[in-house]
Amino acid sequence: MNNDCPIGIFDSGVGGLTVAREIFHILPHEDIVYFGDVGRYPYGGRSRDIITAFTRQDVALLNEHNVKFIICACNSASSVALDEVSAEQNVEMIGVIEPGAKAAIEKTTTGRIGVIGTHATIGSNAYARIIHSIDPKAKVFSLACPLFVPLAEEGYIDKEATYLIARDYLQTMQDVDIDTLVLGCTHYPLLKHVISDVMGDSVSLIDSGEETAREALRRLGKSELLNPKMTQYPAPEGEHKFFVSDVPEKFSAVANRFLGRTIDRITRVDISGY
Ligand code: DGL
Repeated sequence: MNNDCPIGIFDSGVGGLTVAREIFHILPHEDIVYFGDVGRYPYGGRSRDIITAFTRQDVALLNEHNVKFIICACNSASSVALDEVSAEQNVEMIGVIEPGAKAAIEKTTTGRIGVIGTHATIGSNAYARIIHSIDPKAKVFSLACPLFVPLAEEGYIDKEATYLIARDYLQTMQDVDIDTLVLGCTHYPLLKHVISDVMGDSVSLIDSGEETAREALRRLGKSELLNPKMTQYPAPEGEHKFFVSDVPEKFSAVANRFLGRTIDRITRVDISGY
């Protein structure tokens, strides 16, 4: 494995494309292999054991493509499975929790931080643990908002129903007077403006995907794994390959919305064989 190998990104489905979008933007000359486990989505309501077993298989699939670096774009998998699975790999792996938690600490001025995510992410307390390891005095308020996932996926971005649910969920966050809110789920950046409208201008939103892309750039630079293509003139665009574990049609439709562009080649794989 060397610096012209691809970067692997995986998620429980299409949501990780919000992270991939940031990677494409910040690392345009890198080749990317993306795996979306659409056949077993969602991960967010599942147990640690199941999510860990799925994560191990997702990583095995990426390793088959000789990836040089792996990004776990799924907050649920990053929360409960990343430590165990990354310890088994030769390839460096990062998740989305640590970059998001660090960015929240840098942003807050009052030390009162909210975290929203799936049941798996919130139940694991992963964000709070990392935030407290950096600043033990920070106050962290965590809340599962599972309905945001299907709303984002179905394109319920500007609908009154989404505002109703957001107001209901986020009332408790408003009551505890946070100044920073971590969007701890792949899908939530798509609802950023709804969440921001409900929380008001005084609350800064942290997009873990953006922070993870910056962290990937830093780590690849440090490990001297940035693709040498970037020094060519003109530097060629990276090649992006997409793999899914069930029929690709829905992935393709949602991907258009998540990425703002069409993906033409999506390959279906049998993840149970990994
Ligand atoms: N990708 C998941 C996450 O970020 C959300 C969707 C799911 O539950 O699988 O936690």
